[in-house]
Amino acid sequence: MKILGIDTSCDDTSIAVIDAKKNGAIFEVGILSNAISSQTEIHRKWGGVYPSLAKRAHQKNAVPVLIKSLNDAKNLVKKKNTLSENQKSWLRKKLDHDPLLAKDLIKFFEKYSKPDINAIAVTQGPGLEPCLWVGINLATALGYFWNVQIIPVNHVEAHIYSAWLEKENQNFNFFPSIALIVSGGHTQIIYVKGAGEYQIVGDTRDDAAGECFDKTARILGLGYPGGPAIEKIARTCFSKTKIKLPRPMIKSPNYDFSFSGLKTAVFYDFLKKDDKIKKSRDYKNAMAIEIQNAIIDVLAEKTLRAAKNFNVKNIILGGGVSASASLKEKISSLAGAEFKVLYPSPIFSTDNAAMVALAAFLHPRDLPENFFADSNLEI
Ligand code: KG4
Ligand code: ZN
Repeated sequence: MKILGIDTSCDDTSIAVIDAKKNGAIFEVGILSNAISSQTEIHRKWGGVYPSLAKRAHQKNAVPVLIKSLNDAKNLVKKKNTLSENQKSWLRKKLDHDPLLAKDLIKFFEKYSKPDINAIAVTQGPGLEPCLWVGINLATALGYFWNVQIIPVNHVEAHIYSAWLEKENQNFNFFPSIALIVSGGHTQIIYVKGAGEYQIVGDTRDDAAGECFDKTARILGLGYPGGPAIEKIARTCFSKTKIKLPRPMIKSPNYDFSFSGLKTAVFYDFLKKDDKIKKSRDYKNAMAIEIQNAIIDVLAEKTLRAAKNFNVKNIILGGGVSASASLKEKISSLAGAEFKVLYPSPIFSTDNAAMVALAAFLHPRDLPENFFADSNLEI
């Protein structure tokens, strides 16, 4: 079955086409396309995602990314169609908050016919509500004009399944497992019993791990997004300075996290230093190394403890921060032979629509009568 996936939950407009087949517990997924328009340049100067700018960029990029995705999947059917006035007014009315998208879609439907697609998967939440709406509006219009079912997807659930986009993991049944989902918006430890059977056992009480990377990188002027900028320094640079930052909640008898204290510790250390030190490469390198160690130590220790206590054999990593080679190495080394650690390649760690399409395939949810964007959607 061919599924078109759409994700506009944060700052990437992503549309993918997958071809998925099931054979008992084993399945096979071909990724026919995974088109992504990144907004990193737009948000760089704010040091984080600016929701109204993100929404506008999604509206502008949605149809071009759709065309690229269908074209990459060799599934763009060029054929002139004339839309009736009724069809046009349905579209304008349905997308009354998205006139730009409605206009682009009218042109799209007049130029291209229905591709070979069996379902449309779209992120319903969690995420930035104005951004989620763009994806939902796009899916609603495509579903109506192509007469194809729409499957709502939980973004965190999609991150859990992203490791399965890798061919070598597809014939491996990883239930039950402990998943660590770490991104700019989430830091959760989830007990994954089976498809659709999840228990959040740990969560962040304030900032997400990715948010901590982004905010501390901003304090130090290291670049945006902070995670990859800090990792690059931590993996390639050396420092004579020794800094010790806290490992918040590392020994607390639960699986929760708190990263805002770490950010504050970085901020106060930075404030205390005189200008020359603040600007020195050596200080910045020392900070980057220690920030990364502190975040990874806490994530790894709590994930391993959860895996032991929940008596599972598998650990799944997902979300933008799981693109970190240092995090994967640390967790794999602690896991040793006791646990199998599964994760996606970096392109599928960060937000992408292929994982959204896969989640719809592995755990299809019913479309609610009143389908709306839910920024706090629980898994
Ligand atoms: O999953 P994602 O693309 O979007 C959200 O749903 O938030 O995650 C983005 C986050 C950012 O905070 C970014 O700094 C972080 O993932 N990130 C990393 C790395 N690559 C991306 N953090 C640490 N190391 C990395 N290599
Ligand atoms: Zn995400």
